[in-house]
Amino acid sequence: MFFPAALGALLLASCAADKPQDKPLKDTFADNFLIGAAVNVDLVNGADPKGDSIVSRHFNTIVAENCMKSEKVNPAEGVYVWDDADAFVKYGEERGMFIVGHTLVWHSQLAPWFAVDSLGAPVPPEVLKERMRNHITTMMTRYKGRVQGWDVVNEAILDDGTYRKSPFYEILGEEFIPFAFQCAMEADPDAELYINDYSMASPAKRDKYVEIVNDMRSKGIRVDAIGMQGHMGMDYPDFNEFENSIVAFGTTGAKVMITEWDMSALPTVNTGANVADTAAYAAALNPYPDGLPAEVSQEWNDRMKKAMDMFIRHSDIITRVNAWGTDDGMSWKNNWPVPGRSEYPLLFDRSYNLKPFLTEYTEK
Ligand code: G3I
Repeated sequence: MFFPAALGALLLASCAADKPQDKPLKDTFADNFLIGAAVNVDLVNGADPKGDSIVSRHFNTIVAENCMKSEKVNPAEGVYVWDDADAFVKYGEERGMFIVGHTLVWHSQLAPWFAVDSLGAPVPPEVLKERMRNHITTMMTRYKGRVQGWDVVNEAILDDGTYRKSPFYEILGEEFIPFAFQCAMEADPDAELYINDYSMASPAKRDKYVEIVNDMRSKGIRVDAIGMQGHMGMDYPDFNEFENSIVAFGTTGAKVMITEWDMSALPTVNTGANVADTAAYAAALNPYPDGLPAEVSQEWNDRMKKAMDMFIRHSDIITRVNAWGTDDGMSWKNNWPVPGRSEYPLLFDRSYNLKPFLTEYTEK
């Protein structure tokens, strides 16, 4: 039978998981906030065409999941490996997206040379400051006018509101945060600058961030948004406390962004997102290897809708909602905190279908 190519393409498209009738999320939430996802190197390099199709269709902002971390992009002093970061930025530019760089100052995945001398001892404060300035300036200068926002400092505060004892803190004390923002302001005055962390519903952590951001802004140091990562589970965070944090962060005058949203559907092992906090595999911790039972899926979708409704309620101060990944199959949560679990935390399932809670918005 004769089968015109255009008709074939149409049929193929209609069989694709991303159904044409799904209104794009970026149009659905256009009056509320930017909506996006963290993307990995496979996706931007064309190795995940279905992932590309949902990102291109639904999102107007992307953030680099891994390729801009110092360990990857700046593995030795003065050595930069740009291929993946360049590909990420090009991908976003070609699609007219708001591009976010992640992350300039972070204790985890820190390039091994960054805070030590040739013998492995901590460098003196002036040396670390020089290295920070060089790194921040090099990254932001390369992508000036192309990357519109940066996670400048990531995960600096512990849940009890004290400073994380990172190399930056141990060597420079509290000063490392304003210093990083000062360098960033100077490197690209037009880029938005963010401070970002997980477990932001913790009252002690909330209070400390409000104090830090107020202090910096009162001194003329720009912090344009406070990033609430939004790594969630079925029993955490307490949404009342999460909402209290949104409101409290708004009082600083900075915007609020949900920067790494996902929600575990599995038994909770820990409520943070510290990469080093892992636990051993046990079958009881991986109860749904072949798919979520209908009642669990319903519960997950109900809770995600509650979260999304909360973000919409505060869309006067929330300017970006960003999922930490594209589809369930590629989520970091399949391997954290317990390696080898089958997780279901993202906005699209393993077949790249939009999760049901979102169709309640797109079909309105
Ligand atoms: O690239 C190597 C590959 O060469 C190697 O074969 C493989 C074997 O383990 O590892 C690959 O690196 C992994 C990398 O992801 C890329 O896939 C690292 O082991 C793994 O630790 C790394 O995990 C990332 C993690 O940050 C640590 O950087 C996750 O993908 C990423 O989702 C996660 O993202 C963080 C945010 O940056 C900050 N907030 C918390 C969030 C979740 O932990």
